[in-house]
Amino acid sequence: MAYNKLSALLDGLTSAVFVLDDKRRILVANRAAERLFGTKRTSSHSGNHSQLGLDFVRAVRHPECLKAVDKVLAGSHQEQVILSLRMSVPTTYQVNICTLDEGTSPPSGALDEARLVVSFDDISPIREAEKMRSDFVANVSHELRSPLTALTGFIETLKGAAKNDEQARNRFLDIMEAEAQRMKRLISDLLSLSKVEINEYMRPTKRVDVAEIVKRVVTTMSPQAAKQGKVISFQCSSNATIRLPGDADQLTQVFHNLVENALRYGDSNTNVEIKLSQIERSYGLIGPVLAVEVKDQGPGIAAEHLPRLTERFYRIDAGRSRDMGGTGLGLAIVKHILSRHRGRLQIESNVGIGSRFIVLLPLDIK
Ligand SMILES: Nc1ncnc2c1ncn2[C@@H]1O[C@H](COP(=O)(O)OP(=O)(O)O)[C@@H](O)[C@H]1O
Ligand SMILES: [Mg+2]
Repeated sequence: MAYNKLSALLDGLTSAVFVLDDKRRILVANRAAERLFGTKRTSSHSGNHSQLGLDFVRAVRHPECLKAVDKVLAGSHQEQVILSLRMSVPTTYQVNICTLDEGTSPPSGALDEARLVVSFDDISPIREAEKMRSDFVANVSHELRSPLTALTGFIETLKGAAKNDEQARNRFLDIMEAEAQRMKRLISDLLSLSKVEINEYMRPTKRVDVAEIVKRVVTTMSPQAAKQGKVISFQCSSNATIRLPGDADQLTQVFHNLVENALRYGDSNTNVEIKLSQIERSYGLIGPVLAVEVKDQGPGIAAEHLPRLTERFYRIDAGRSRDMGGTGLGLAIVKHILSRHRGRLQIESNVGIGSRFIVLLPLDIK
């Protein structure tokens, strides 16, 4: 293979690749390597790239990486290094260094002096996914451990000190019931989340009546609102298309979670308003969109929390959320369900005034 062809082939790779000679000089640096390390590459008039000839040390100033290159030059077949580069976003690379032995070296004439290949693979997304997974397990364990600790504590008390105290026994049993319910809610939300994640890539095909779904949620939640002295109002703009491809159970869950939050975090004696309307265009979505707005008059949410609200277990006030029966998973479930519907959630809030959670669903009108 000619040098030009080899160089073009390496340019097609997303990984940064260097080919070095036995004196650590750069014979080839592909386009990704140039982008990453700013290696200069000159081009002759004939279109051939001249060999760089730079010492690898001058391009990649990372002692770990150089040590590994030297080891391979000294006879090791392959070395691997994990490198963290401080760029605009911290990025982790897996660096592979391997020799070009007889079997893999290019045919004579092209890059005769080539001795080793250094490649940089961005493994940040893998690292990020691993971290998310372990954070999630830690969060779930923590959330389950606190009710479990309470339960075992009360069981011990009931077996010992409070054995013959009927009043204390009843009070403790009430708390134990509440703690058991909390674990049940958490497990049910975890199951919902994994169920939504599994079929997230399969967009629903059957058309459902969203106004009907919202009305049913209002009817179900109204008694709970009335207990808090609140009213849930529903308004549907007359020209809105209300039928769209959707999963009725999942959309019910979306509106249930949003109304529950509005009731839970809204101030007492304030109402919850739901408005349904059609908008012709919305950022990131295709075609006309059905917007369902759930508005409360609560304390509102400070701007720095808004982008994180749909993260699992992210709560502004964890104590308050737990006291009110929250699991911290409601909005994460909402986000996944909307993404399955190719829609999104928009959150607008003013501290001291209230919040608006707007569900945007593509109407998919052909
Ligand atoms: N309408 C709202 N007003 C103020 N804060 C809200 C509202 N809805 C959600 N939040 C905040 O977002 C967090 C996450 O909500 P969610 O995922 O539904 O979990 P949960 O309600 O179980 O705590 C809540 O704990 C709360 O801090
Ligand atoms: Mg909630």
